[in-house]
Amino acid sequence: MDRPYLRAAYDTEAATYDERFRGLQWPKFETFLKPLSATTEEHGPILDIGCGTGLLLEYFTMLGHSRADIIGVDLSHEMLRRSQARGGIVAQADMHALPFATASIGTIVCVTVFRIIPGHDRRVLAEMARVLRPSGQLIISLLAERDDDQVVELLAEAGFAVTKRLRAGQDIGYLADRI
Ligand SMILES: C[S@@+](CC[C@H](N)C(=O)[O-])C[C@H]1O[C@@H](n2cnc3c(N)ncnc32)[C@H](O)[C@@H]1O
Repeated sequence: MDRPYLRAAYDTEAATYDERFRGLQWPKFETFLKPLSATTEEHGPILDIGCGTGLLLEYFTMLGHSRADIIGVDLSHEMLRRSQARGGIVAQADMHALPFATASIGTIVCVTVFRIIPGHDRRVLAEMARVLRPSGQLIISLLAERDDDQVVELLAEAGFAVTKRLRAGQDIGYLADRI
């Protein structure tokens, strides 16, 4: 899907996103982020890629993390407007070109943004690897239709070692360390 089309689609979806998807996303956050929650404070700042309306921000703040440690990026202005209304620090950006310095981020979370990681999205993984500090953490979840070993290989090529694979709802989450 081309990105202007995708942005327009998510702009339209923003108004009803929480009502439709909060119940689906919340158990994913609990599953994928539980292994992290004890340590995120030492692994900040946290970058939430494809942050949508900021549901993850709400989850992290409920756990006691400071909003100041979490940055959300998204293509969709309407999604970001809602995340900002939750007190989020946000930037409108495409994950193929992240507006952050090399090795400046401690943790990247990217939940239900990709369906798959097709070939051209090696660029996205390369961007994630670039902005993460060495030994930084990545949590990425995909709608679970894909051979997961291939995802592990793509992550390894980009410089990540997968430490856990977890299923929640329709997603598989990959927890990985930047090597
Ligand atoms: C299904 S929503 C998930 C939102 C959030 N991660 C959550 O768990 O509630 C996918 C989000 O990814 C964003 N997105 C899709 N492609 C993107 C891209 N290339 N760069 C940045 N954001 C993107 C969409 O605008 C949308 O807000």
